[in-house]
Amino acid sequence: MKSPAKAALTSKEPAPSVEKCKITLKVNGVLQRIEVAPWTTLLDVLRDRLNLTGTKKGCDHGQCGACTVLVNGERIVSCLTLAVMQDGAEVTTIEGLAAGEELHPLQAAFIEHDAFQCGYCTPGQICSAAGLINEGRAKSPGDIRELMSGNLCRCGAYQNIVAAVQEVMRTKDNDERGEP
Ligand code: FES
Ligand code: FES
Repeated sequence: MKSPAKAALTSKEPAPSVEKCKITLKVNGVLQRIEVAPWTTLLDVLRDRLNLTGTKKGCDHGQCGACTVLVNGERIVSCLTLAVMQDGAEVTTIEGLAAGEELHPLQAAFIEHDAFQCGYCTPGQICSAAGLINEGRAKSPGDIRELMSGNLCRCGAYQNIVAAVQEVMRTKDNDERGEP
């Protein structure tokens, strides 16, 4: 006699169809209306549906930070949020940070400080750094390390990443104070 599980696997009945959800996201300034299965993560929508492959899939379990993007200006790991949970949100990925040909200051600083080696973690590091600067809580290199500790770099470029983030924070502070 077949076990119930085996019977289910060999059943000729069609699998029940899944109702897709219609959602709207504003991604890098562009309105996107898409239909997704309810379990689809934001990361998979960005990479597989919108072809924005700058955002990387590392662990897919919220542990490496490679998939970090900004949602309504706040950094989140996109592998741990369902796309339907972000219906109506504004999402910024690494592709949306530069202004045309002009690099975002963090992108320029990462290049200047040689803050990446293989580059795999870099989009997540840069989006995370942008979120960290928006939060305005980091005051020291130690704070930067602590607040970016969810972003792992297998190559160990941390020293230079901190230097790059610090430079952008300094420039921003000076700009706000009107100092050169
Ligand atoms: S892929 Fe999302 S945290 Fe690692
Ligand atoms: S530069 Fe290689 S993982 Fe960070």
